[in-house]
Amino acid sequence: MMHNTSSTSGGVRVQVRGLRKSYGNQEVLKGLDFEVEPGEIFVIMGPSGSGKSVLLRHLIGLETPDAGEILIEGEPIGAPEVMARHRMAMVFQSGALLQSLTVGENVGLYLTEHRLKSPEEIARVVAEKLEAVGLKDTAHKMPGDLSGGMKKRVAIARALVIEPQLILYDEPTSELDPLSAVAIGEEMLNLQRRIQVTSLVVSHDRDLAFNIADRIALIHEGRLLAVDRPAAIRNHADPVVQHFLQAGLKPNDRKDAS
Ligand SMILES: Nc1ncnc2c1ncn2[C@@H]1O[C@H](COP(=O)(O)OP(=O)(O)OP(=O)(O)O)[C@@H](O)[C@H]1O
Ligand SMILES: [Mg+2]
Repeated sequence: MMHNTSSTSGGVRVQVRGLRKSYGNQEVLKGLDFEVEPGEIFVIMGPSGSGKSVLLRHLIGLETPDAGEILIEGEPIGAPEVMARHRMAMVFQSGALLQSLTVGENVGLYLTEHRLKSPEEIARVVAEKLEAVGLKDTAHKMPGDLSGGMKKRVAIARALVIEPQLILYDEPTSELDPLSAVAIGEEMLNLQRRIQVTSLVVSHDRDLAFNIADRIALIHEGRLLAVDRPAAIRNHADPVVQHFLQAGLKPNDRKDAS
C-alpha cells in the first residue's frame, strides 16, 4: 500500500566556493570554500558571531553572496527550479511549530497548503514521517503538550515530508537535556542511513558533533580554521583549533595566532 516513490533518492553534493558576505563595512564571511559529499553529515561549529547562521541563510537562498557561489549537484542555487528539484529542508532552531495546530497538522502543513495530496494520503504520509522519528500515534497531540525533544522530532518529521535530499539543521540540540540531545543525534544518524540524505548541521554541541559527524568544519571570524574527520579535528595541531575545542566556544575566544 505504501508507495515511497522518491524516498530513497539519496543526498545531494553541496559545493561552497569563495563565499563572501559583508553587512555595511563588517565582512562576516571572508571567503569560505568547502564541499559536502552526498549522504554526508557535515557539522559546522564555531563561536557566537562567527557567521554560521549567515552561512545557513545563504544555503537556503535567503541571502545573496557578495562573491562566490553555492552549487547543489553542480548547479548554482538561487534559481527556484534548482531549489525545488534538489529538495532542501530546514529544521529551525525553535522547531517553529504552530501552537494552534495539532502535531499531525504541523507535519502535513506543506502538503495541505500546496494541495499536493488528498486528506487521506496526507494523513498516511504524516503517520509515516512521525513513525520515522519515533513518534508513532502522536498526530492528534498539541505541540504545547510535548517535551522539547519531541518538538524537535516533530520539526524533523515536518522536514521529511518533502522527501529531502538535503536537510539543514540549525542548533538541533539546543535547549535539550543531554539524553534528548543524544536521542536527536541518533535520529539524525538513522535518517542518514535510511534515506542517505545529506545533512548540514550548525551546532555548538561538541558531543553531538563528535558523535554524528562524518566531518567537522570549524569556522572562526568568517574563515574556516579546519575541515576534517572528527578524529583529525580532535588531534589538530593548530593551537587555535585546540583552544577552540577546549574553551567552551565562547564569543571572546580571540587568542588568534595571527
Ligand atoms: N542581517 C544582518 N545585518 C547586519 N549584520 C548581520 C546580519 N546578520 C548577521 N550579522 C552579523 O554577522 C555576524 C555573524 O552572525 P551570525 O548570526 O552568522 O553568527 P553565528 O555564528 O550564527 O552566531 P551564534 O552562534 O550566536 O548563532 C555577527 O556579527 C552579526 O551581527
Ligand atoms: Mg546563529
